Amino acid sequence: MFIALEGIDGSGTTTQTARLVAALREAGIAAHATCEPSAGPVGALIRQILAGRVVLPPEPTGQGARQPGPAPSWASMALLFAADRLDHLDAEVLPALARGRTVVTDRYDYSSVAYQSMSGEGGAAIPWLRDINRHARRPDLTLVLDIDPSVAAERRALRGGTQELYERAALQQQLAAFYADIDRYFPVDRFTHVDASASADVVAAKIWRSVRERRAEPFD
Ligand SMILES: Nc1ncnc2c1ncn2[C@@H]1O[C@H](COP(=O)(O)OP(=O)(O)O)[C@@H](O)[C@H]1O
Ligand SMILES: [Mg+2]
Repeated sequence: MFIALEGIDGSGTTTQTARLVAALREAGIAAHATCEPSAGPVGALIRQILAGRVVLPPEPTGQGARQPGPAPSWASMALLFAADRLDHLDAEVLPALARGRTVVTDRYDYSSVAYQSMSGEGGAAIPWLRDINRHARRPDLTLVLDIDPSVAAERRALRGGTQELYERAALQQQLAAFYADIDRYFPVDRFTHVDASASADVVAAKIWRSVRERRAEPFD
């Protein structure tokens, strides 16, 4: 089974990925936790961009010091995330599924649709974003962690660390609205919404119930 967790920054996708994999293992189900951006080479590049660290080209002689340019455009980011996704599938997800593991990923292709559309041209970008991800295996279950963006911002502040590229209040508000409404954007896909403002234990219990229900259904 291939499970994806989605939600805005601070909704708890990392916390709940770890909780779900622990619960699966406790139930005797071999499970593998992973995330996007992935641990692979394209993922490393994306993390570097998100953190605002820039590699400057060598300084040409006789000219002033080079200044770092702006962050790559939403479309460049979309292509990097799509490349990372296919590499992530080939290098990690598909081999783990082939070995019979249940794979839980902290973010997947709906993150690309959400973040790159909302940081770019909005809903008009969605068909292209879906197209460049069309070779990505569909998850068997997508869990969407819904949360008020101000609660998520408080959690991020408590977590500490430096602010990343997409962690701006206005964008996070748009992302929260997008995730809450995701079924309308993808009427054919199926989502399980989870109220992520509850305690981590309550959220984990709701996710565990959803996973057990999905496991009881036939797979195609
Ligand atoms: N249900 C919850 N209630 C309160 N705090 C939480 C909950 N889930 C996660 N946290 C805390 O909030 C912060 C953000 O959680 P995290 O899992 O890192 O979110 P994300 O990966 O979605 O950005 C962390 O410090 C985490 O310990
Ligand atoms: Mg996280």
